[in-house]
Amino acid sequence: MDYLLSEEQIMLRDMVEKFAKEKIAPVASENERNHIFPESIIKEAGELGLMGIAYPTEYGGAGMDFTSYFLAVEAVSRYCASTGVIISAHSSLVCDPIFRFGTEEQKRKFLPDLLSGKKIGSFSLTEASAGSDAGATKTTARKENGKWILNGSKLFATNGKEADVFVLIASTEPALKTRGVSAFIVEKDMPGYKIGKIEKKLGIKASSTAEIILDNVEVPEENLLGNLNEGFKIAMTTLDGGRLGIAAQALGIARASFEDSVKYSKERFQFDQAIANFQAIQWMLAEMKLEYDAAWLLTHRASMLKDKKVNYSTEAAMAKLKSSEVAMMAAKYAVQIHGGYGYTEDFNVERYYRDAKITEIYEGTSEIQKLVISRSILK
Ligand code: CAA
Repeated sequence: MDYLLSEEQIMLRDMVEKFAKEKIAPVASENERNHIFPESIIKEAGELGLMGIAYPTEYGGAGMDFTSYFLAVEAVSRYCASTGVIISAHSSLVCDPIFRFGTEEQKRKFLPDLLSGKKIGSFSLTEASAGSDAGATKTTARKENGKWILNGSKLFATNGKEADVFVLIASTEPALKTRGVSAFIVEKDMPGYKIGKIEKKLGIKASSTAEIILDNVEVPEENLLGNLNEGFKIAMTTLDGGRLGIAAQALGIARASFEDSVKYSKERFQFDQAIANFQAIQWMLAEMKLEYDAAWLLTHRASMLKDKKVNYSTEAAMAKLKSSEVAMMAAKYAVQIHGGYGYTEDFNVERYYRDAKITEIYEGTSEIQKLVISRSILK
């Protein structure tokens, strides 16, 4: 589908694919199984501009577009979905809202280190009783002596363990529910801020998923992000971009599953011939390719709309829903094609199978994506 891309986008994608194949792939399985955050890879990704692809050079970004961003996240996730989500959560959920809603001072203060990967970002929205119901946040922020005092706890923060900068959503006027929620920029060294439980997960284990505890954290007044009580909308538009990043991550897992299956089915001999000769295998390969292309096109549409700065909430939900379903299907077929070997750690498809599932859950479950799509149909 290169005919849909510019020369610059193709060059970027090929550069990232080469980097991921050479540097990320050799350590991906070991890092994932042993919960090792790929620190040196993220540092190098920062030097290559991958931590701030779609943001202006004046703030330290690479000055490219969101289509390039999606291509890069897919290329990285093709080899390591953990690294894909580290980059995606950092870029879509932290750099993006600071760039779009931050004051000039906030942008100058936070973006250069984030976009160059010197600092890592994490997004804190989810709580024990505020998951799909994102507006039900119990974490509070109250103003006292010119500072915001934050109390509560957040769950499932991707990059939470390593992050330096958090975009965090808290209730500033609980009675107003979603209209009484605000966004804050919180730094890890602020007194009262603590990392809680680190989740043990089924997959993407090289990326941390942390609980964040806020015990009277004093946040300077100027760290309010966007307008007071407009945090829910900031979170929702941020998640639109996040869903684009997760669609890209899911596409990477789907492509990895497909490419490994094509290779294996040509090499594996049963009944005196390559298993690629059997229709049962051919149909699975055909279905994987068909569904991958469909999901890629939906994601490309969403990224083009984001690049054009028009509303793309529904298209992002469609891209994420479809791509995550395709990742699950492709990973399931990949394990099936690899047979008994596919169930062992000797082949990467076992990792793809575990990694794929999260794409149907985070940044909104599949059911939430369907809700977003159906609301746009029925409104
Ligand atoms: N863009 C801009 N505004 C939006 C919006 C969007 N995409 N979606 C909603 N809004 C606005 C609405 O227009 C509305 O505005 P008004 O108050 O002015 O009318 C306001 O927000 C409230 O909207 P809703 O009434 O639709 O809100 P709701 O409470 O019914 O919620 C929802 C809708 C779609 C279910 C939403 O809560 C949602 O997306 N939930 C899932 C949350 C989610 O994805 N969580 C993942 C957390 S992040 C994560 O996974 C961690 C990580 O690190 C990876």
